[in-house]
Amino acid sequence: MPSDFTIRRFRPSDMDRILEIERAIFPRDAYDRNLFAEYFHTCGDLFLVLVRCGNICGYMLTCIRPRPEIVSIAVLPGERRKGAAFLLLKSTIRRLRRREVDRLNLMVRVQNRKALKFYVKYGFVKIRVVRQYYDDGTDGLLMSKNL
Ligand SMILES: CC(C)(COP(=O)(O)OP(=O)(O)OC[C@H]1O[C@@H](n2cnc3c(N)ncnc32)[C@H](O)[C@@H]1OP(=O)(O)O)[C@@H](O)C(=O)NCCC(=O)NCCS
Repeated sequence: MPSDFTIRRFRPSDMDRILEIERAIFPRDAYDRNLFAEYFHTCGDLFLVLVRCGNICGYMLTCIRPRPEIVSIAVLPGERRKGAAFLLLKSTIRRLRRREVDRLNLMVRVQNRKALKFYVKYGFVKIRVVRQYYDDGTDGLLMSKNL
């Protein structure tokens, strides 16, 4: 398990770096500044950033309302397969359990093989395919985990 990653809550001064990461990882459908600001306002205690050597290299955003759901998770390519996303997930789940949340959902593109393998590895089960969930017509897969 990597010891040089740390997790902390997002701060408004992180915004430019988060946008840079977002555009690099999701070039087609990156969230914009306004959307992140809105999420910070409504779900800020579950907006976590991943830090290594003083640099933010990933983030995870989860909301409880209207239902507990992972909104987004991303780790820069150079830091993948080192357990970083798992650290973000573990920290999120700890915070959710403290709030007595007992289930966590997410939606993932059906062809996002890496993310699907990640979620299955950490206990999410496939619930159903939602046809044309994404703006580009791609199907989404609803997954869920009991906490
Ligand atoms: C999905 C993502 C967050 C995983 O981050 P990560 O830090 O590499 O994940 P971890 O190291 O904690 O977990 C690794 C596990 O995830 C899965 N996984 C991650 N990358 C994988 C790949 N390239 N091929 C196959 N499985 C992969 C495997 O189960 C792997 O376990 P293993 O190494 O024992 O095979 C990262 O690939 C990413 O940012 N992808 C782009 C953004 C994205 O698609 N987000 C999800 C949107 S729903």
